[in-house]
Amino acid sequence: MSEELLVRKIRDGTVIDHIPAGRALDVLKILGLSGKEGSTIAIVMNVPSKKLGRKDIVKVEGKFLEPKEVDEIALIAPTATINIVKDFRVLEKRRVQVPGEIKGLLRCPNPNCVTNTKREPIETRFKLVSIAPLKLKCYYCEDIVTEEQVIQQLVRE
Ligand code: CTP
Ligand code: ZN
Repeated sequence: MSEELLVRKIRDGTVIDHIPAGRALDVLKILGLSGKEGSTIAIVMNVPSKKLGRKDIVKVEGKFLEPKEVDEIALIAPTATINIVKDFRVLEKRRVQVPGEIKGLLRCPNPNCVTNTKREPIETRFKLVSIAPLKLKCYYCEDIVTEEQVIQQLVRE
């Protein structure tokens, strides 16, 4: 693997591979990692990939992902594979999956949507319309949420 020329293998932790080029820092943001936590983190950007042309890789020692983190990564990096590494071996490898229905992770952009107007909060619910480009549709008001809005909400707020 060409990136091994750049970054060594990790002992225990998670390798998020096949991230679309340019999204590695967004993945770190979703994981809430700034680098000040003390764990060893490797970020590899724009390495050649047979499947993707170019890809990013994020390796985090000592970190194992929560299901919510995997779902959020799926939304912004649908080609990603999550490799769980123990004692230098890949114990588990799975492709992230964009859920057909996304519950609770995102806000509806429509201010008049019932999920934004009720005093008691209603959990948001979106149906997946397309993966590339990402498009979601609010179950309640049918407004469309675009990839840019998803990245805005998950990464920049
Ligand atoms: N990796 C790592 N540390 C380890 C084991 C693996 O950093 N102890 C990294 C590899 O460098 C690679 C990813 O985890 O980026 C997946 O490892 P592996 O399954 O061995 O590589 P491939 O078979 O090439 O993966 P794929 O088929 O998913 O492309
Ligand atoms: Zn709505």
